[in-house]
Amino acid sequence: MAECVAVLTGAGISAESGIPTFRGQSDAGALWRNYSPEQLATPEAFERDPRLVWEWYDWRRGCVARAEPNAGHRALAEFERRCAATGRRFTLITQNVDGLHDRAGSRQVVKLHGDLWILRCLSCGREERDERVPLDPLPPRCDCGGLQRPAVVWFGESLPAREWACASEVSATARMFLVIGTSGVVYPAAGLVEIARQSGARIAVVNPEPTPLDARADWLFRGAASEVLARLL
Ligand code: OAD
Repeated sequence: MAECVAVLTGAGISAESGIPTFRGQSDAGALWRNYSPEQLATPEAFERDPRLVWEWYDWRRGCVARAEPNAGHRALAEFERRCAATGRRFTLITQNVDGLHDRAGSRQVVKLHGDLWILRCLSCGREERDERVPLDPLPPRCDCGGLQRPAVVWFGESLPAREWACASEVSATARMFLVIGTSGVVYPAAGLVEIARQSGARIAVVNPEPTPLDARADWLFRGAASEVLARLL
């Protein structure tokens, strides 16, 4: 079987593109109108005030639309190309919904928490890609008249089954597992590191700050993703 390399990324990889993280030292930037993500990214918040939740997502979509993939995203796309050229299997598992890995050229991307650019109708279930910034009207409506929500995973919701199955399988077969820019506190995503470790993968953690995942690392790279990944490449 081909040697398998897996990568798990979190908000930290997009920090150098100017996208606010959720936690960490720069978490002041994560607050929007004094709301924390935990107050907005829930089904209850959406039920209570869909417009407020959509205004936050519309703001985030605007941040991402103005941003560019950074050297860290590009290094992972290059890593994937090199693995393909040498017959290795490479899978990038991300908790990010910003799409910057795709824009950097990554191909095998498993999106555990959904996609900011896809809208799902709460009435008919249809999903559509919509890259307008800003969205108008807010909240957006489907052709069937139903209310649309962002196709992302909110607190209290399950991860998409196919993506989770794929991420678990890849983690269980990886020889090398790179963990980049995640605080490692949101489960089940963070649990992939333990799956990989128990299956015998070597774990490398890249983060400028300490995280609970450090204890599982064979290699710890304390630094910004762009610098560390450029060196590793
Ligand atoms: P967090 O915001 O929790 O953590 C970001 C991590 O990135 C922190 O550990 C920072 O130290 C690190 N970091 C900051 N700048 C970095 C850089 N230049 N290079 C590398 N690392 C850097 O983000 P996640 O772990 O992704 O879920 O958060 C997990 C989930 O919590 C998110 O997917 C989201 C959130 O609630 C949902 O929305 C379901």
